[in-house]
Amino acid sequence: MDAGFGLGRLHHVFRRSDRARIIRSALDAGFTHFDVAPVYGDGLAEIELGRALRGRSGGVTITTKFGIPYRAIGRLPTPVYLACRTVERVTRLPLGARYDRRDYAPAVLRRSLEGSLRRLGIERVDYLLIHEPPTVGAYEALGPTWDELRRLKDAGSIGAFGVSGVSETMLEAERLGHVPADSVRMLSMTDEVCRLPAAWFRGRKVFVYNLVKHLSRSMGPGRIETRRLIEAFAGALPGATAILASNQPEEIARMGRCVRECGRVGAGT
Ligand SMILES: NC(=O)c1ccc[n+]([C@@H]2O[C@H](COP(=O)([O-])OP(=O)(O)OC[C@H]3O[C@@H](n4cnc5c(N)ncnc54)[C@H](OP(=O)(O)O)[C@@H]3O)[C@@H](O)[C@H]2O)c1
Repeated sequence: MDAGFGLGRLHHVFRRSDRARIIRSALDAGFTHFDVAPVYGDGLAEIELGRALRGRSGGVTITTKFGIPYRAIGRLPTPVYLACRTVERVTRLPLGARYDRRDYAPAVLRRSLEGSLRRLGIERVDYLLIHEPPTVGAYEALGPTWDELRRLKDAGSIGAFGVSGVSETMLEAERLGHVPADSVRMLSMTDEVCRLPAAWFRGRKVFVYNLVKHLSRSMGPGRIETRRLIEAFAGALPGATAILASNQPEEIARMGRCVRECGRVGAGT
């Protein structure tokens, strides 16, 4: 099996030094692929990943995304940023990411990619994904966005492109012909995804998140033994790359060990 490391909850960690330690733990554990998005911590996850990778000579691949409107307020000092989030929650005044909205227009895509590259401190991102089209109708309207992604790939700004989101919607959109066959997929682990034939994964990069939530239904609530989690994923979806996530350095080290013993940790290629 194959695994990368997700930074979707890195901004839940208050201290910058602790956030840096989490990314360092993932690198030390052998992870060579990281999953971020501009909306994760309103730019913070990309900033921290860029900071952690600065000065390293390659060997790490990155997925980022676009399409959920955001303001990069995660670059503010942490106490100010967290104060903004509190104000946002209490007043319902949107200051950062707008998870209730989507905008996949080509101009928005180009601006978002520029921001991601700047925060990450790189010139080209390995995977750029359309972030969570909410409905099949939203997939249907993506024609100009796919065209722009293809142009960016041809221009060398991105290595590959695709879409991430809820499996049911993505698979339905795919059945209706709204997802290009050559696009990368990132989807949630569900029973339907586990039933997909091996041929569906062949020749295609497929990332899968939601392992803990999905597997805790059969393995029970609370902490799941890391080895059981990894083995269950490897048994169910051998052709996919797991996106693992934890904010605990000891857990991250265990994940790295278990993935290595179960297959390979990295997922960069
Ligand atoms: N549409 C998208 O593009 C999309 C959507 C969702 C997620 N993602 C990506 O996928 C990553 C993973 O997301 P996710 O939704 O699967 O998980 P998640 O919500 O980001 O976090 C994983 C949770 O599982 C806990 N955990 C880790 N190992 C565990 C174990 N062995 N037993 C019990 N709990 C455990 C972690 O807690 P501790 O910190 O305490 O270990 C954490 O609370 C994200 O960080 C993000 O990068 C992408």
